[in-house]
Amino acid sequence: MTNMIDGQGRHIDYLRISVTDRCNFRCHYCMPEKQKFLPHADVLDYSEIALLANRFIAHGIRKIRLTGGEPLVRRDIDILINDLGSHVQAGRLAELTLTTNGSRLKQFAPILARSSFSRVNISLDSLKPETFKTITRGGDLDQVLEGISAAAAHGLRIKINMVALKNENQSEIVAMAEFCAANGYDLSLIETMPLGEGVADRHDRYIPMDDFIAPLRDRFELEPLAHRSSGPARYWNVAPLGLRLGLITPMTHNFCDDCNRLRLTTDGKIYMCLGSSMHVDFRTAMRENGMEAVDRLLQQALRLKPARHDFERQLAEPDQRLSRHMNATGG
Ligand code: GTP
Ligand code: 5AD
Ligand code: SF4
Repeated sequence: MTNMIDGQGRHIDYLRISVTDRCNFRCHYCMPEKQKFLPHADVLDYSEIALLANRFIAHGIRKIRLTGGEPLVRRDIDILINDLGSHVQAGRLAELTLTTNGSRLKQFAPILARSSFSRVNISLDSLKPETFKTITRGGDLDQVLEGISAAAAHGLRIKINMVALKNENQSEIVAMAEFCAANGYDLSLIETMPLGEGVADRHDRYIPMDDFIAPLRDRFELEPLAHRSSGPARYWNVAPLGLRLGLITPMTHNFCDDCNRLRLTTDGKIYMCLGSSMHVDFRTAMRENGMEAVDRLLQQALRLKPARHDFERQLAEPDQRLSRHMNATGG
């Protein structure tokens, strides 16, 4: 077993796997309306993902999250869901989770629960059907709400991810907090990051977290919590609602010092940071030279993992932005 410590001394035990770059929504901050997706030959098949996951687990990965794109639109995804679940059942993985847009959750909730998924994070930026449709470019709010209820009914813990969008869902923060509290869901608020070309202008939509949550502070008490998940959120109790609120502030409060994750993309690359184009190509290594080459690359990836992202500069200087969209790397 290798030691998963990166070049900055951080302990890496969390792998996010983007299983597809495709999505049935087109959230305007995430990707353009007409998006080109990867050709099938470039996409890792399930046996390749499973092989890589096994290897990473052997090296010390303890948590895996499936992301995308929308993971539940990939054909036969239940094969991978079952396979990864067996690692939890055998005690090799501590946690298996999913980030989803919720549109197919009704159908998949029982499969996820059977496969030892403990939690799901669902992107839900608005509770108004029209606003939801506009942000997602066509998404059906009722379908997502049904999916969320189905997941909760199957015993999955629910976290709602809401991206803070100026003048778009800004007025809904109190309603969203009350909705989550009433249903026993956690809520995470996310500052929009300048990722990808051809998406809505961030300067129009970007809002610092402190401004976004001002209406919550006016109404409720925000008390800091010691709770930490494996992600970058800092948690607060919203009293007297009893809501656990996570704030994810890549733009205004950097959290890179605690970063514990690597990201495997749909085409088999490992990105060491959401905010950097630095990566190594596991697909080529595995297909041409086998698993020893994978082990060597993993050590290289750990050495190269950047100390922090550079989104602040990328927001201010459009020509410095990464061309990669969020759906390519996973949220
Ligand atoms: P858990 O703690 O495991 O529940 O995950 P999380 O809080 O990281 O939640 P999730 O994985 O759904 O991530 C929520 C959002 O936070 C993502 O969609 C990204 O927008 C942002 N995010 C997550 N990880 C990183 C990271 O390493 N760097 C940056 N800049 N943003 C991140
Ligand atoms: N900035 C912040 N969050 C984003 N997401 C997608 N694109 C961005 C972005 N540019 C979020 C989605 C979802 C998760 C997968 O990533 O809302 O919750
Ligand atoms: Fe799809 Fe998620 Fe991107 Fe929206 S944010 S387009 S749901 S991948």
